[in-house]
Amino acid sequence: MSSPAPLRLGSIAPNFQAETTQGKIDFHEFIGDNWVILFSHPEDYTPVCTTELGAFAKLAPDFEKRGVKLIGLSANTVESHEGWIKDIGEVTGGNVAFPIIGDKQRQVALAYDMIDHQDATNVDSKGIAFTIRSVFVIDPKKTIRTILSYPASTGRNAAEVLRIVDSLQTGDKYKVTTPINWVPGDDVIVHPSVSNEQAKELFPEFRIVKPYLRFTPLPKEKATVL
Ligand code: BEZ
Repeated sequence: MSSPAPLRLGSIAPNFQAETTQGKIDFHEFIGDNWVILFSHPEDYTPVCTTELGAFAKLAPDFEKRGVKLIGLSANTVESHEGWIKDIGEVTGGNVAFPIIGDKQRQVALAYDMIDHQDATNVDSKGIAFTIRSVFVIDPKKTIRTILSYPASTGRNAAEVLRIVDSLQTGDKYKVTTPINWVPGDDVIVHPSVSNEQAKELFPEFRIVKPYLRFTPLPKEKATVL
């Protein structure tokens, strides 16, 4: 049996229908005109996953301000998610108000290549592999803009996922890229495709460190920290 084509940056996010904690969804309809973070965790009622889902729930208002919808997934049932969400609230104070997909058959996990191929302990009671900690950042055109893969042992950094969204949205809006450890408000880098003449027009305060490295502050209204 042939495997699906690998998903890469720039691929269109495959569509699917699935049961979630908020009812049945068609993924492309769910995306609509929004950005979406589709992220998987290995298993409900496990320690690292509990801390992660709590952290994403607490940052949900910040994602919303940026036009981003969150949607979780694991190879557990919707009923299992519903019980676990109560624990997450109790333990972390985070109210999981975004949907979590019940992907017991691993239909979505296989389409997005979220299955664990290395950790023999990350399996269900029948020995079938669970999902890893995947993150897909998807834009309103349904294009995959970022893919992250973390092992079951390592919790993610929800603030880093938000920072990636800030970088992508800033880069899309202005012809800039963002340097190491950039956060909104920091100087950005003029995109290599922009000539110095164009840069003078677009970014009057830009400075040339090397011909290939040109920094600029964004004007205040462009650098707004949400
Ligand atoms: C956890 O969330 O703690 C976890 C889940 C599966 C395997 C290992 C750790």
